[in-house]
Amino acid sequence: MEKLAVLTSGGDCPGLNACIRAVVRKSIHEGLKVVGVRRGFAGLMERDILNLESSSVSGVIHQGGTILRTARSPLFKTKEGQKKAFETVKSLGIQGLIVIGGDGSFRGAYTLDKDWDIPTIGIPATIDNDITGSDFAIGFASAVNTALEGIDRIRDTATSHDRLFIVEVMGRASGFIALWAGLAGGVEDILIPERKTDLDEVCQKLEKGRQEGKTSSIIVVAEGDEAGDAFEIGNKIKKKIGYEIRVVVLGHLQRGGSPVALDRILATRLGSAAVDFLMEGQRGKMVGLVSDKIKIFPLEYAWKKKKEIDLGFYHLSQILAG
Ligand code: ADP
Ligand code: F6P
Repeated sequence: MEKLAVLTSGGDCPGLNACIRAVVRKSIHEGLKVVGVRRGFAGLMERDILNLESSSVSGVIHQGGTILRTARSPLFKTKEGQKKAFETVKSLGIQGLIVIGGDGSFRGAYTLDKDWDIPTIGIPATIDNDITGSDFAIGFASAVNTALEGIDRIRDTATSHDRLFIVEVMGRASGFIALWAGLAGGVEDILIPERKTDLDEVCQKLEKGRQEGKTSSIIVVAEGDEAGDAFEIGNKIKKKIGYEIRVVVLGHLQRGGSPVALDRILATRLGSAAVDFLMEGQRGKMVGLVSDKIKIFPLEYAWKKKKEIDLGFYHLSQILAG
């Protein structure tokens, strides 16, 4: 292997630049040439490529976002789009591709490896943390902290005004951000797709808390919860028990900001390991951190095995909510 490429794809997250930095500097350390692909698979199809030197990643480890930018590209799901990407890779003499992204991006990496014979390694990066094969995905720890900062601020005004707040967090179809930020925030209830939501049960808890003197509450809702989004859930609760309710949707705040230390370290370790594995001839695989050890798994793990969520976190949150 003499030359590899790196790209960021799909939803961005804090830590991507720390990961790009590790891939670039590790590659150079190993004597490889490394190029960056702008805007994910779209840039690969459009040959939007730049050479990367050690200085290209100076001063980026703490920056959110991605210096390579990212994209969601439906065209790449077509053979025509994939052929364009293949032609870029071959014409530039790229011998391996590192794809930093979520499960959708891993499907793209898998296709390039299996159908187009381009050795690829995936690095899990999504705030959703819904990728089997790694205890944590890059971006998750930072998103939890951002959501928690929001919850703590809401706690101040909820307490001042004796209000019920419904706080919606991201996660697409997973509840990891809601569960972790909810437990850390000491909220009264956490509604996630992985656990059936019973709004009558939620209302009983709120009423019980009020009878025990609780004058304000916070409920965290994962955006994919089957009971609806925060506004729908707020309206249903208001109809049932007439609370004065306010709704806060944290949205894309959770996708930005400076990566926390845990994300920087995870990104650095996985980025460096991805280069090593490509050089060893590993391909069609994803790198992950499991019980603090670097592991490698087939890319298809990312979508064929749903990542387990620990509902023990939920039960603990309910015991301690008081
Ligand atoms: P994430 O990687 O964060 O899950 P997406 O689901 O948007 O984000 O996937 C990112 C990109 O990966 C898509 O825009 C598309 O270009 C590519 N992709 C997703 N699924 C496939 C697929 N089945 N085959 C080929 N490319 C895919
Ligand atoms: O996958 C990351 C994520 O932030 C999800 O949590 C969220 O549902 C989705 O991306 C939002 O997509 P977009 O950035 O395209 O609005």
